[in-house]
Amino acid sequence: WNRSVQRLETVVSTQEEAKRLAENGAPEGTAIIAEEQTGGRGRMGRKWHSPRGKGIWMSVVLRPNLPLSLTPQLTLLAGVAVCRAIREISGVQAGIKWPNDLLAGGRKICGILLESSLREGGLHYCIAGIGIAVNLTEDDYPDDLHGVGTSLLIEGGGIPVDRQQLTEAVLAELEFLYTLYIERGFKPVRELWESMSVTLGRQVYFNTPEGRSEGTAVGLDDGGGLLLRDAAGNITCILSGEIEMIQ
Ligand code: BTN
Repeated sequence: WNRSVQRLETVVSTQEEAKRLAENGAPEGTAIIAEEQTGGRGRMGRKWHSPRGKGIWMSVVLRPNLPLSLTPQLTLLAGVAVCRAIREISGVQAGIKWPNDLLAGGRKICGILLESSLREGGLHYCIAGIGIAVNLTEDDYPDDLHGVGTSLLIEGGGIPVDRQQLTEAVLAELEFLYTLYIERGFKPVRELWESMSVTLGRQVYFNTPEGRSEGTAVGLDDGGGLLLRDAAGNITCILSGEIEMIQ
């Protein structure tokens, strides 16, 4: 695990910077952080608001020896790592909404984007993109994110959080959990995820381009998919996509 962190001022997206490093053979653990992103990317083709000096906009290179079908487990792992670091450094009781949005006070505080690169049909490397809204104020959010996004500053009652300290804690947690995962498999990570989840036990909508279904979130399957039980008692597993918690 490489502990070197590269810091940049302004980039389009740290995902692209990390990919370039990975293509050039950067070892796993290599992290790249920017003060500002002009084209930060979120899941499902969305933009990620990344104002200067207000957050942690970071990408980490991973090189797991895994079948592609198990990479969703890494997404959950990254969510657990960041959630632990946030609780430890800021005291804000963040929780995880499946698969890996971190929420505080019902609003989003962190997003994770895991991108995989393939070679010869197998996994070549993964880039774990982590965006944490650290010291944004309500005014730092554009209109369309008002009431949707929050920050550690807002949730912590106006006390700014040291970004350097939080970055170190996130990387230390990531290294710890990733090593645990490589040595002992998904089970310990899954148990931690379940204990930090705000999704399990809740009634949720699952939105797809074909429409919306409804069910109770009852657990995770071994691949990291979410198990939903519908009104008739049937269980289905959703592997990716977006859920909406009801109430
Ligand atoms: C999401 O919730 O939709 C995922 C957001 C991921 C944002 C991070 S910020 C660092 C990295 N660079 C990007 O362009 N995106 C990720």
